[in-house]
Amino acid sequence: MGKGSGFGKTILFGEHFVVHGVPGIASAVDSAADSVVKKTANGIKVTDERTGAKGYADKKKLQQLESIERMLKAMNLDPKTVGMDIWLGGNLPGFSGLGASAASSVAIARAIAEEFELTFSDEQINDIAYEAEKAYAGNPSGIDNTAATFGGLIWFEKNLTGGENKIEQLSIREPVEIIIGNTGIVANTKAMVEGVGERKKQNPEKYGAIFKQAEQLAYDGKKALEEFDLRKVGALMNENHRLLQEIEVSCNELDILVDLARKQGAFGAKMTGGGGGGCMLALTPGKMLQEKVASAIENAGFEVLRTKIGIQKQ
Ligand code: MEV
Repeated sequence: MGKGSGFGKTILFGEHFVVHGVPGIASAVDSAADSVVKKTANGIKVTDERTGAKGYADKKKLQQLESIERMLKAMNLDPKTVGMDIWLGGNLPGFSGLGASAASSVAIARAIAEEFELTFSDEQINDIAYEAEKAYAGNPSGIDNTAATFGGLIWFEKNLTGGENKIEQLSIREPVEIIIGNTGIVANTKAMVEGVGERKKQNPEKYGAIFKQAEQLAYDGKKALEEFDLRKVGALMNENHRLLQEIEVSCNELDILVDLARKQGAFGAKMTGGGGGGCMLALTPGKMLQEKVASAIENAGFEVLRTKIGIQKQ
């Protein structure tokens, strides 16, 4: 029996823009996907016991099977002959936008490696999970699987010419409370990423200008995080949300939750992840503010995860 885990994540700056080489910043959250894998005579059976958005596991079933096939090939195992039971669980809710797919890919890859006595470095696990992510995201940047593999607070820059991505661990003075609000809409990241790509092609000038602003935001965000200027971090997150609205990846429900969080005193709020549903993130330093914003969103009928950014990786 092999076991493995992968961190959930939230993107503080730069989702979608990272796919096109703009830097992004992600943080692991203190919830993870866990997997247990057991060899069997033949066939691959998946038992998915993760909690979260209704229908998440069902809607992602086909993508999940494709991702496992991709993963096995990347591990030099033949999906047609290899047999295993894969169990998925853990305390990371299956909300769209929390990197649940990447976290589960990392968890499964680690569990398979242990069960089949294969030795992979974290960098190799990250590459394997990236292959698996293609089933969910089409042309992913790699930021989700990187955060899921390494944890911590991460600066990420995709190398568009196929070379190594730039990955840097950032540190902040202390972990900061955030809340993640779930619209309950299961989003299709692949379609959202493709949509941005098409609109970017059709409106190169408009998108070029927005992408420049997103790049500046990532650098300003890094500085504000390192200086622990949380008011500034929040203001930049608000700005990032505006850019995401401009590239048409937010939606009504996300905008409503973002507004609600700001009205309740959050330092900043934005959608996080692929958009089109999924989750939003609000910066709510201190337990009291976190609770105030979280309960307002819950009272409006939405699920909330109370967690922190900047937790040191274990
Ligand atoms: C999804 O969590 C983040 C996106 O930027 C896609 C990616 O980076 O692969 C939307």
